[in-house]
Amino acid sequence: MLFEAASAGAALCVGVEADPIKCWWIRREAKRRGMQGIVSIIRANLLNIDLSKADIVFVFLSPALMKRLKQKVFNEMKPGSIVASYEHRFKGWEPETTDAKLNVYIYRIPLKAHSSYYQTMLNLRLFTHLPNLLASHPR
Ligand SMILES: C[S@@+](CC[C@H](N)C(=O)[O-])C[C@H]1O[C@@H](n2cnc3c(N)ncnc32)[C@H](O)[C@@H]1O
Repeated sequence: MLFEAASAGAALCVGVEADPIKCWWIRREAKRRGMQGIVSIIRANLLNIDLSKADIVFVFLSPALMKRLKQKVFNEMKPGSIVASYEHRFKGWEPETTDAKLNVYIYRIPLKAHSSYYQTMLNLRLFTHLPNLLASHPR
């Protein structure tokens, strides 16, 4: 998947894998394909990785892990960013798109009233409207 994404033009493809042998294989393959600058792999537990900067997260995991991942992506990922899952759905979250043939479910992180991103946007809006607000309410 990492190599497919890189070949399709993704600027940076970072995999997270717990299995050291798979990590070794991916690093070797990245080198062989001359893609070390684009494809990399972190040997870690995905649940301990900060996903806040990811635009797209693609997973192929067990149903048990999907359950734990759901709250994490909701909490960490930016509104509008995408989570694609091969084979397994997130329970209680309707995918935006489903590819039944490929068995892929695509989810979009919604805007959350409590998120810091949402708060920043609100503050920015307030800030840009402040001069008009002040002008329309002279003391
Ligand atoms: C269903 S397999 C997917 C196979 C793999 N994507 C591939 O194409 O070879 C799930 C993979 O996720 C890894 N995995 C499972 N739990 C993980 C976790 N918490 N953090 C990182 N990787 C995990 C496993 O080691 C395994 O390679």
